Amino acid sequence: MKLFLDTADIAEIEEAASWGILAGVTTNPTLYARAGGTLSEFPAHIKRICEIVDGPVSAETVSLVRDEIISEGERLAAIDPRVVVKVPTMPEGLAATKRLAELNVRVNMTLCFTVPQAILAARAGAAYVSPFVGRFDDISEDGIAQLAQVVQAVSNYDFGHDVEVIAASIRSANHVTQAALMGVDIATVPFKILEQCVKHPLTDRGIESFLSDWEKVKNS
Ligand code: E4P
Repeated sequence: MKLFLDTADIAEIEEAASWGILAGVTTNPTLYARAGGTLSEFPAHIKRICEIVDGPVSAETVSLVRDEIISEGERLAAIDPRVVVKVPTMPEGLAATKRLAELNVRVNMTLCFTVPQAILAARAGAAYVSPFVGRFDDISEDGIAQLAQVVQAVSNYDFGHDVEVIAASIRSANHVTQAALMGVDIATVPFKILEQCVKHPLTDRGIESFLSDWEKVKNS
């Protein structure tokens, strides 16, 4: 499973990239706003992320009408060859995805929750489909079970182009575990969750005891 970082925070992206584990980044309007982004700086910000990350960088469209989504997608894709255009799952989004795919612009179909939505996204030409896990849990549904269904359904068919599933809206290290066990292609995780993935109390305890034993060696 490849790991993407779900953030627009440059410091977090630089840190994760330095760990040698970063295969891509996904951003969305909320994450960009949270990083203090402004409208005029958006293209430069995405370009900066592309310079740090050796992999696809998703930048999301905010238009609701197909022709506008297409123009916005073309503008985003022109920022850098690494840019993948994120388009919400909706009829106008499907039509825009079809056209963008014809223009060789890679699309990440986002806000995808169900198997039918994922199949439609893949059929329309999306290179990536992003089922959201945590937001299903938020409404007392089983986000991991829904993700498993999407992974199974997408793997059942040849769509005539590569389609990778990105487990999105990841809220815990256990979500990462479950996604990896079901063989999902990619998980996009917030930096806080990435940190949780590295840590384990037994690792911390082990480091502590090795260091204290090494002190005995040094003082012997
Ligand atoms: C997907 O690419 C989205 O950016 C993201 O995973 C949304 O997660 P959230 O539900 O935690 O906002």
